[in-house]
Formats: sequence, C-alpha cells, structure tokens
Amino acid sequence: MTTQTLDKKTVLEQANEALQKATKNVKQDHRLGFHIAAPANWINDPNGLVYFKGEYHVFYQHHPYDEHWGPMHWGHAKSKDLVHWEHLPIALAPDEEYDRDGCFSGSAIVDGDTLYLVYTGHVWVDRPKDIAIQTQCIASSKDGITFTKFEGNPVIKEVPSDSTGHLRDPKVWKQNDDFHMVLGNRTKDDIGRAIHYSSKDLKNWHYEGVIAKNESDLGYMWECPDFIELDGKHALLFSPQGMKADGDKYQNLYQTGYLLGDYNESTGKLTYGDFVELDHGHDYYAVQTLHDDKGRRIGIGWMDMWESNMPTKEAGWCGALTLPRELSLSKEGKIIMKPVAELELLRDEELVIPLTEINNECIQTNIHEDLVEIKAVFSLKDVTAEEFGIKVRCSEDGKEETIIGYDVASSKLFLDREHSGKGVAGIRKTKMDVQGDSLIVHVYCDRSSVEVFANDGDVNMTSRIYPNPESLQVQFYAKNGKVAVESVQAWKLKDIWKENK
Ligand code: FRU
Repeated sequence: MTTQTLDKKTVLEQANEALQKATKNVKQDHRLGFHIAAPANWINDPNGLVYFKGEYHVFYQHHPYDEHWGPMHWGHAKSKDLVHWEHLPIALAPDEEYDRDGCFSGSAIVDGDTLYLVYTGHVWVDRPKDIAIQTQCIASSKDGITFTKFEGNPVIKEVPSDSTGHLRDPKVWKQNDDFHMVLGNRTKDDIGRAIHYSSKDLKNWHYEGVIAKNESDLGYMWECPDFIELDGKHALLFSPQGMKADGDKYQNLYQTGYLLGDYNESTGKLTYGDFVELDHGHDYYAVQTLHDDKGRRIGIGWMDMWESNMPTKEAGWCGALTLPRELSLSKEGKIIMKPVAELELLRDEELVIPLTEINNECIQTNIHEDLVEIKAVFSLKDVTAEEFGIKVRCSEDGKEETIIGYDVASSKLFLDREHSGKGVAGIRKTKMDVQGDSLIVHVYCDRSSVEVFANDGDVNMTSRIYPNPESLQVQFYAKNGKVAVESVQAWKLKDIWKENK
C-alpha cells in the first residue's frame, strides 16, 4: 500500500470516526422517525439515488464534522423497501486535489456489476467572491459500500467557453449503449441552463450542447438538474437560483420545479411549456429521481431550504430528506407526486376519528401523536365554510398549531406555520384545480416535518416545523360555515430508526 492510499483511507476513516462521536451527542426532541437524516450533523441534497442489487441506495451531501454546511462528503443509507433504512459508512470524502473543498452533488449509475458515483469535485479559488473550479469525477464500487475514485479523475475538466466555473451536479443515465449526463450551469451572462454530455464509457465525455436555458425569468443558475422520460414526455427537473417571487409562487429563497415537453434526440433540444413548481411548502429543494425495477420513477428532495433557520443545529444535527414520492403525469399534463405505496408499512395502530361534518367549530380529536398519517376527504359540494382543514401539533393551551387548510373563495390550499413552534414562521398557499367535488388531504407528520399530498399528489406541500414535543393534538376545523367530511382515516406511524436498534 502506498502512502497516498494510506492517507486517503485516513481521511474517510477520520470522517466516520468524527460522525460516530458526534452521534452520541445528538438530542432527540425533533429527531425524525421515518425520514433520512445523517446520524449526526449537517446534510443537504439527496445524491446518487439508485436501485442496485435488489436494494435502494440514497447518498446525500453531508458534513460529518459539524451541524453547519462545510467540505462536502457523501453520506449513505440503503433500504430494501424505501421505508426501513440502514445507515452505512460515509461513501466519499474530499481527499484529492480535485475535490479538496468538497464532493458536491451528483448521481449514481449501475453498469454490469459495478455501481458508479458521478459527482462534482469542488475547489475554492476565491470563496468570498464565490469563484471555484468545478470538475466532474467518478468513483466505483462492487459491493455498493466502499468506493474507489477513478485514477483518471476528473473526467470532465473544462467548462464550455461561455460558462462560468459554476458547472455541477451531474445526473447520469444510460440510453441504448451510451451514457448521458445533464449538468447545472451558470453562463458568463448569468443565465441559468442545463447542458448535456455523452460518453461510451463514463470516462471520456463529449459536450453535446444546451438542453434548455433561462429565456425569461428562470434565474442565473440551475442546480441539480435531472432529465427524465415520464409517460411519453420528457421533463427537466431542476432547482433554479435567482427567480423572483410572483404572487404565491416562488416564495422560497430558491425553487424546485420542472419544464415538461418533447425532446428531439437528433437536435438535442427540449421544447417545453412553463416552469412549474413541484412542491409548494417552505422546505423542498434539489429533487433527484431514480428508476426502479418496477418501472417507477421515484423522487426524493432535500426537506429544507438554504439560509432558513434550522433550530435542530442546537441538537447536533441538521437537514433531512423528504419521503420517497412516485412521479407520474396527470391527464392535464402535470407531474403529480404520490407517497410510494410501501409507506403503508409505516402504519402501526389505526386511530379512529368519527367525523361527518364540521360546522363553524374546531373539533379536538383523541389523537396525540408525533408520528402520524391522516387522510381526510372533504366534500366541496355544499360547503358554506370560508375555510376548513386540519390542525396538527396543537398545544393544550392553544398557542401552538400548524394548519393545513383550504380557502374556499380562492380555491387555495395553504400551510400555515405562523404558530408552529421554534424558529420558523410563514404561510405558503397555492391554487388548486379540484376536479369533482372532493378534496383529499393526505398528511404525514414526523417530529419536525409536515408533508401534504392533496388530491392524490396533485399538489404537494412540505415544511419543517419545530413544535414543543408536548404539542401533539390533531384538530379539525371549519370557519364561518360548514363542510361535510366524507371520510377520515389516521394511523400512528412507526419510528423506523428506533425499530432498527
Ligand atoms: C444544491 C447545491 C448543489 C451543490 C451542493 C453543495 O443545494 O448547492 O448545487 O452541488 O448543494 O453542497
């Protein structure tokens, strides 16, 4: 063994040791029970989502030394069913000249019996001015746990002549015998765009051109692109930086959404419609998808937002990933995202809520849970209430609550965390095109998150909340009038991390 490989091992080992040590000091109050977070310290984007040798692997941007963002490593978890996850050792550490300041976001691809990670090597040139060298690199593994970086890294060293150094987050897929890569990019004119490379062997890449770019108000940089085929159409998913808020839209610091259309393979161009946000809550970013053995397209996002207040830092951890969601195309040509069917495995005890009508009142249910799933169907047929919905994580004294409501006059679904507890606030709203007379509100509450899937994934809202651990009540309400309730189901959910111990 050469000294160089000894050193490399040490960097990864040091990271794993630091993480193990930090894990002992993590405080449990807001620790999530059925979401992926690191055992301790910081995480951001999901990376390397892949189905390999019968298991789902999820990697993520991770700083094992600190609860704040820093030199990025790749954390790692795997699962057989997308529900029960197991932590694995850190997969990548910044231990080479070309990834000295971080192994930034990227993807994974299986070729034969080998799992490849494709990521961005990040090296700061002038950090205060946000100038860096970003190159694309690969690492491989046969067991899906220990990865070796390719000695010929970086596999893409140069940026196109009209590009700044911001060229990152490779998402790779295979079509026929060729590999393809989409990268997020910022041009010298501050135009966000997604660019395309191809390769026969993952090692030699050819620049193919621009798939799509900002031609109006879609920001100066597109992060974490993913280019997918969905029910006969093509969609470019990405996270633009620099979009301006527009009414209820684009309220977060950065956005995540898609352009949907038709892809012309010979010209390499996507013709597409308007940019559409994928989730309307406070905390959803950098979605990545995988294609599994059942032919499903499954997406997972980072369940936080850059520069938001993140109160769990005090508890020695920060950041989490969303629940896995199955993507499909609606009849109207919109991407819908439903919780994957396997999430039913989380259900523990069924909680009974006898409710047929709510009439200008707030009904306290007998539910007092921090891990809970609720599925309610409201009838919009003879509704007279101005607004109605579900309140979760309510305190006994009425001071804390998180509201998932529907405003009847404006047909808007909203998530109100003005009184959700520590450190966060704000209301997010979005217009719903309800087909028919029913509004289905499907909610997953974990200890510090709320994920709403309305009308079977037509509208998603994801937000972090940090309530007092004792604020556990679930309530149903209608304001100034009544609403009929067609059905309500609720389940106490399992804590998969406690089950694992
Ligand atoms: C998106 C992002 C990526 C980058 C990574 C760094 O959240 O900024 O563009 O690769 O995070 O951690």
